Amino acid sequence: MAIRQLRYVGDPILRKTSKKVTEINERIKILLEDMVETMYEYEGVGLAAPQVGVLRRVVVIDVGEGPIKLINPKIIEKEGEVIDAEGCLSIPNRVGTVKRPEKVKVEYLDENGEKKVIEGTGLLAKALCHEIDHLDGVLFIDKMIEELVSEEDEEE
Ligand code: CO
Repeated sequence: MAIRQLRYVGDPILRKTSKKVTEINERIKILLEDMVETMYEYEGVGLAAPQVGVLRRVVVIDVGEGPIKLINPKIIEKEGEVIDAEGCLSIPNRVGTVKRPEKVKVEYLDENGEKKVIEGTGLLAKALCHEIDHLDGVLFIDKMIEELVSEEDEEE
């Protein structure tokens, strides 16, 4: 396993649409492992492949219950609305509120290629939506309602 180099806001790769994974080969499995390690190294709750420079629909999440590896994740159901604070490893020193579904159902493939469905509320719902947005080049600052912490605050 290896820690991968993070991409930061301003890097054009974060704005691109990631391609579906068509074959879960060794390369994808190593990517998943590296992404988990990178997420832990930077103390994130989730990480999407474009954040390590790979334009593939691959996401890892850990909301404190162990790592979840999602290949080709897709939101198939959403329910409710909640406005909560968000940050992103690719956008250091910025926190803002974003409106997200309260509950989501996401279909994905696990690392063995098995089709799975995960249901999330609270932090897990937020992480799923945030990370899946990354696969379409969308960042939380695009949806931000109110900025709570900005780079200027950090410099003071
Ligand atoms: Co992010």
